[in-house]
Order: sequence, then C-alpha cells, then structure tokens
Amino acid sequence: MSIVKDMSLAPSGRQKIQWVRDFMPALSGIEDRFRREKPFAGLTIAVSVHLEAKTANLGLVLREGGAEVYLTGCNPLSTQDDVAAAMAELGVETFGIHGVDMQGYEDLLAESLKCRPHLIVDDGGDLISLLSGKCAAYGDRLLGGCEETTTGIHRLYARERAGILPCPMMAVNDAKAKHYYDNKYGTGQSSWDAIMHTTNLMVAGKTVVVAGYGWCGKGIAMRAKGMGADVIVTEVDPFKALEATMENFRVMPMDEAAKYGDIFVTATGCKDVIVERHFQVMKHNAILCNSGHFDCEVDVAALGRLAEEHFPRRQNIEGFRLPDGRILNVLAEGRLVNLAAGNGHPAEIMDMSFAVQALSLEWMAKHAPALEKKVYNVPAEIDDQIGRVKLAAMGLAIDALTPEQEAYLTGWD
Ligand SMILES: NC(=O)c1ccc[n+]([C@@H]2O[C@H](COP(=O)([O-])OP(=O)(O)OC[C@H]3O[C@@H](n4cnc5c(N)ncnc54)[C@H](O)[C@@H]3O)[C@@H](O)[C@H]2O)c1
Repeated sequence: MSIVKDMSLAPSGRQKIQWVRDFMPALSGIEDRFRREKPFAGLTIAVSVHLEAKTANLGLVLREGGAEVYLTGCNPLSTQDDVAAAMAELGVETFGIHGVDMQGYEDLLAESLKCRPHLIVDDGGDLISLLSGKCAAYGDRLLGGCEETTTGIHRLYARERAGILPCPMMAVNDAKAKHYYDNKYGTGQSSWDAIMHTTNLMVAGKTVVVAGYGWCGKGIAMRAKGMGADVIVTEVDPFKALEATMENFRVMPMDEAAKYGDIFVTATGCKDVIVERHFQVMKHNAILCNSGHFDCEVDVAALGRLAEEHFPRRQNIEGFRLPDGRILNVLAEGRLVNLAAGNGHPAEIMDMSFAVQALSLEWMAKHAPALEKKVYNVPAEIDDQIGRVKLAAMGLAIDALTPEQEAYLTGWD
C-alpha cells in the first residue's frame, strides 16, 4: 500500500509526468518494445531514484515491460509529493514524502523493499546498503540491479572489494550515454536553474567557486562562465586542475578561493570540502550550495555551531549569522541543489540516462543468474544503441565508416 503525503495533489503530478513524457523519445521507443515483449514479466523491481516526474516515467516504462514496480526516493528533499501521489493513483506502489527526517526517509525505503525485489535501481546506494544490512531478509529473491550515480558506484566497488556486494550490479553512471550528458550538461543546467530561481540573483559579474572539475563540475563551471561569472575551480587531481586552467578558469586551493567567492558550488562526491576555516574568511552574504550526491560536502553542522543564529531567508535558503555580523546563506540544507531546490535535470537528458537504466535492467534480468556478485559495465552495444536513437530523435545524422576505413582504423599496417 503506497505511502505518500496527499493524494489530492495527484492532478498536478500527472501533468508533470505527461509533460516530461513528451520530451523523452528514446525511453518512449523502449516502452513500445517493452509493451510487446514484456521482458520483466513475473519480476518485481524496486526503484530508489529522485522521486520526480522523469523517474515516474521510468517507473511507468518498467511497468509496461511487465514488472511490478515499487517506487521510492533517494533523498528526502528531492521527492515531489504531487508526483508521488500521481504514481500511487496510477497504481504504482509509491513510498515517498518530501522533507521527512532521515529516519522517516529510511523507513520509506525499507517499506518499499518489503516487495522482496528481483531487481533494484539505486541512486547513491541506499537500497544496496539496506539490503546488505537491516533489510537483508527482503533480498531473498534479489537477482541484480543498476546504480545511477558516481557516488553510488564508488560504494559498489568498495563493497565488491570487501566481498560484501549482495548481487551483481550495473554501473549505469559509467555508460557514455549517461555521464557524458547527464553529469555534465544536466548538472550544468539544472544546478544553475535551481540556484537562480532560489536566490533570484544575478550570476553575471559574480565570482563562482566550483569545487571539483569532474563531469558535474565541468558542466557547472562552463554554464557559470557562459552566464558571465568569473569562475574559480578547486581540485585535488592535478590533471583536472590543468584541464580547468586550460579552459581559462582560475585554479587555487579552497583555503584561498573561500575569500573570493560570491557563490560556491561543490560537486566532488567527497566530504568536508567547505569547512569551518573557510566559513571564517568568506564574504558577507556568500551563497553556498552542493550538487554532489550527499550533503557532506559543505559542513553545514559546523556552520550551525559557529553561527549565533540561523533563520530562513527565502524558501530553500537558510541564513547563518556569524559573531562578526556576516551572514552565510546555505541553499537546500547543503543537499544536491538541483533536485532539492529544483526539478532536476531536463527531461531530454534524463531520457538518455533512463534509457540506459531500462536497457541495463533488461540485460540484468536476462543475464543475472550467470553473473558473479560484481560491478559490471553497461555493454557497449546498449550505449551505442542509445546514442544512435537519441541522435535520430533529434533529427541528426552522422557518417558511417566504410569497410576500408574500418580496416584502416583496426589494422596494424
Ligand atoms: N546533482 C546531480 O544531479 C548529480 C548528477 C550526477 C552526479 N552527481 C554526483 O556529483 C558528484 C560528482 O560526480 P562526477 O560524476 O562529477 O564525479 P567525478 O569523479 O567525475 O568528479 C569529481 C571531481 O572532484 C574532485 N575532487 C574529489 N575530492 C575533492 C576535494 N576534496 N576538493 C576538490 N576536488 C575534489 C575529483 O578529483 C574529481 O575531479 C558525485 O557525488 C555524483 O554522485 C550529482
């Protein structure tokens, strides 16, 4: 039985879902085939991904494929109550309430796992973590699953190394059709979309500090530059730092950058990136936010201890007044800003990411019994297929190698 906040919100959720479905052509093509072939007949799938409209569409596509789908969120602030209500109304078992505390969040995930899933879709590794621990009993039918994000995959590899991965898992994030676009262009656009509408401030003319110049950081820095910001990048990897320099971004340690930034965006997947000594030197009214998966990149708890008081300034902005009078502004509690204070990535981007999810799950359903409890890469054919379908959907064509060119590229002479 679904657990959502308010079923009367369903009409607005249905509208949001219908809107994104019109802009997810690759997934629609997969849905048509799934409807005919029913690759998930007899299988139960638990999905823990940011519970908003694009994820809802993935849930519907998997259901068309014959699966019994149990949908839950992967962050208490990214669940949209109207979308959750709409999915419950559409008959998909849905477990998500916006803004619940961490215990409430975990309880909802645990509730969804009572379906004893054959397959899971994880975003950040919370289902795997529960299935390896206090919900292990619900994993008795588990065949395998897919992981959506960089941070989740780091954890899967750590589990594999420790010999405690409960089932084979597919590294969906690492597919080209996912991270080349989702992490870079998706996070690039949706982080700024959220920061701008949350703050209602200018980006042009501001100094923006981007922590981490990986896939997400590149997108965030690129879009900030495009909107007229002066961008500083902080890194721990010398090659990423060199790359940022060659893109004409200033590179320096956070200890230095902390003094200059008007807006800080972290996207490292690491913890303690902005900490107390940085708060001590920041400008009055600096804005701090995070686009990485977990809320441990900006040490909001330390800021709370340092501050004399904190108070809401606008929706999703908490101001922290320091003893010297400066105010530092934290967006969305330091949780990933594009989902906790926005609508997440554009639908066209999630079209590709969720096409990878859908086809990877189908592959898992077929191959899982023969697999070891390891992390698997998305097969190149799946990646390639999605790239081609997406190009075609955008009305674009590309050249094809002639047999002679192919022989030239693969030959030794
Ligand atoms: N907000 C979103 O919608 C969204 C989308 C995709 C991924 N993510 C998450 O964003 C994070 C980054 O993902 P990615 O794909 O860009 O990873 P990535 O590995 O490509 O990039 C991370 C970068 O951060 C750097 N880094 C690590 N620790 C650092 C530190 N202490 N200071 C400065 N730099 C540091 C690394 O050297 C690396 O270059 C992950 O947590 C991922 O799960 C969020």
